[in-house]
Amino acid sequence: MDTKTKATLTLDGKSYDLPVHAPTLGPNVLDIRKLYADAGVFTYDPGFTSTASCESTITFIDGDKGELLHRGYSIDELAEHSHFLEVCYLLLYGELPTAAQLSDFEGRVTRHTMVHEQMHYFFRGFRRDSHPMATLVGVVGAMSAFYHDSLDINDPWQREVAAIRMIAKLPTIAAMAFKYSAGQPFVYPKNSLDYAGNFLHMCFAIPAEDYVVNPILSKALDRIMMLHADHEQNASTSTVRLAGSSGANPFACIAAGIACLWGPAHGGANQACLEMLREIGTVDRIPEFIARAKNKDDPFRLMGFGHRVYKNFDPRAKVMKESADEVLGLLGIENNPTLQVAKEMERIALEDDYFVSKKLYPNVDFYSGIILDAMGFPTSMFTPIFALSRTVGWISQWKEMIADKDQKIGRPRQLYVGEKHRKYVDVRHR
Ligand code: CMC
Repeated sequence: MDTKTKATLTLDGKSYDLPVHAPTLGPNVLDIRKLYADAGVFTYDPGFTSTASCESTITFIDGDKGELLHRGYSIDELAEHSHFLEVCYLLLYGELPTAAQLSDFEGRVTRHTMVHEQMHYFFRGFRRDSHPMATLVGVVGAMSAFYHDSLDINDPWQREVAAIRMIAKLPTIAAMAFKYSAGQPFVYPKNSLDYAGNFLHMCFAIPAEDYVVNPILSKALDRIMMLHADHEQNASTSTVRLAGSSGANPFACIAAGIACLWGPAHGGANQACLEMLREIGTVDRIPEFIARAKNKDDPFRLMGFGHRVYKNFDPRAKVMKESADEVLGLLGIENNPTLQVAKEMERIALEDDYFVSKKLYPNVDFYSGIILDAMGFPTSMFTPIFALSRTVGWISQWKEMIADKDQKIGRPRQLYVGEKHRKYVDVRHR
């Protein structure tokens, strides 16, 4: 931590010095850790809009520029030149791998893709019409009941095994959730396929026919996974860190992250966005929905628009839009009506005063659903695909937190505005 200067807070005539830490990138950070002990006051910041909850070296976002870096590498460059498992290595270990390190890592992930056979029976406890995210939360939480040899968070080797297990098994579990809801038999992973190709195989192969992975689709899916791999201290990542700060096991922490991701303001937006675009249906209905989004009395929001940090284009959305054009073109369905609605919606919104003044731009979820839909995924699988892609980010952040000597159990304070002391009144006298 590089402490360059200090700020002075004056309160009730007394002055308190607050160290100011200089980050490698981004705004300076006031250190208020001793504030309560020294001055007896809390800070108030619902939604953590001005609060840095940890020190991190993994991901950096410049919201004004619309820039996203993983370990210093821009997402545009990674999306163009890298692939998902290489980005996983980068996030987990801090450097791009050598060819030998990459091959060893891919081998380790591939060897862990199967799940404990008894997990197959565990699925049967769910209703067939369960949302795959509900199944995912339950089954990932249950991993701690199956993998007892990787629960000790104080053992670096066990932490490593848990990390590899989750990166390897999340696609298997997500595909099983999909197969279960479709009433089809589970498909075992195939280690000759790459990570994205194997996921497509587990989702779309059936015993009655041979399934050949379409390389256009597996490349596009790999890119979607890369674009979702990490996004610094967002709601689900902060949830994973908070859960982990109590010493909970890594499977329980990732299950907590998945539960948080499910909400429509976060990872659930990709499902909600495609459903919205379909509901709009035709370009002529866009103004009606734009008007609704602007109406303060209508809770409707343009899904796939806006972001807490980006006040410019989400760089992931740019890549995703190009990808949507490319994939639909290669599949010969470039006249897809949903894509037409999305593009026109983006055009109109970006010229509208409301969206311009509030700096609301398309985010990663705006175009991803269109690609996933073209691949044959139902909307209910969009958020599970986000979850399996984000798993590496959650684990990297969790591992960083465990190794951080400054990290304590997460325990925010509050601004209490309830009743003061009251005398208990017996029920007969109320
Ligand atoms: N449509 C219409 N108005 C919006 C939208 C939207 N999508 N997003 C924000 N606003 C307005 C909001 O009403 C508020 O207006 P005012 O200042 O007049 O009250 C202003 O913009 C600021 O919004 P906010 O809710 O205070 O901003 P936030 O940082 O708390 O919320 C957000 C960020 C992403 C939750 C929000 O923009 C939103 O709900 N977007 C739609 C859901 C979505 O696409 N989520 C995916 C986020 S990216 C994927 C991920 O990382 O999870």
